[in-house]
Amino acid sequence: MTENENIKKPVILSGITPTGILTIGHLAGALKNWSQMQNDFDCYYMIADLHAITARQKPADLRLRTLDTAAMFIACGIDPERSVLFIQSHVPEHTQLTWVLSCLTGMGECSRMTQFKDKSQKSEESVNVGLFSYPVLMASDILLYQADAVPVGEDQKQHLELSRDLANRFNNLYSPTFKVPEPYIPKIGARIMSLQDPSKKMSKSDDNQSSVIYLTDTDEVIKNKIKRAVTDSGSDIKANPEKQGIYNLITLYHLSTGKSFEEIEIEFEGKGYGEFKAAVGNAVAGFIRPLREKYEQLRHDDKLLKEILMTGAEKAGRTAAKTLSKVYKKTGFLSF
Ligand code: TRP
Repeated sequence: MTENENIKKPVILSGITPTGILTIGHLAGALKNWSQMQNDFDCYYMIADLHAITARQKPADLRLRTLDTAAMFIACGIDPERSVLFIQSHVPEHTQLTWVLSCLTGMGECSRMTQFKDKSQKSEESVNVGLFSYPVLMASDILLYQADAVPVGEDQKQHLELSRDLANRFNNLYSPTFKVPEPYIPKIGARIMSLQDPSKKMSKSDDNQSSVIYLTDTDEVIKNKIKRAVTDSGSDIKANPEKQGIYNLITLYHLSTGKSFEEIEIEFEGKGYGEFKAAVGNAVAGFIRPLREKYEQLRHDDKLLKEILMTGAEKAGRTAAKTLSKVYKKTGFLSF
């Protein structure tokens, strides 16, 4: 072992629920950063299939989406040699710790979660207990690996706050056991909005497919979606956050080319929306193409993908088992 390997890096963990095809929003907001973070952190990246079933899933679809998501993580730069890439349900400690933490969580704490309130209002089916305790499962995901930091979007910050509270509660009640995780809001990272309603975040579960650029979309599909993207009144290519449609396209161009907003404004000075959209379409298509090709290659090699995920589950399981065994002992469960 070299000296470098002896220095322990801080640990991060994050995950995505496999309920749809990943979008360019995931790439900009999460995967691009996750891939860069591999240099400085010990990374755990998880496919949150247990979280997926808080909404009804067709079993065959869930199986496919889980593999799709894993392949897309790798295509977007997650290196299974450097990071632990695994499926949540393969590590039973997640559900085991969830039970213990559930018994330390107040009903009020879960009812206050804005995501629960939104989802339970929108839900057509009756609201299930899993949806209610979703944040406790998420706390378990994080605390099992003693994560120092959790890269999450704004919408998950409240859940992370609960993870911190539960870690502190357990530590105070028994003795120091869990690392108290910090939110990690990346410096870089762009928020990509819906192409049809740029006041909303781009979402993999949007009913309108024209709003979303999937990472599996072909060049033609991408160019067409961008051509039909809603733009604002006016004609200047200026990065004004109030002109949400154009601002979003500038962000996409920036993401795909690495050019700064100022450079983009200069490049398109005096040019119209039509010309700009064509350029954005080409740039985004060119940016996604190599990822899509890598993804397709991996997706045709089920054996390799399964091997990677089994190795990931073994590595994750070793860390998780250590934490859970401490928790069980401190809680008062007998072990012989
Ligand atoms: N709930 C997260 C989301 O919807 C996904 C997730 C599950 C997660 N477990 C996690 C994110 C643990 C960070 C850490 O985006």
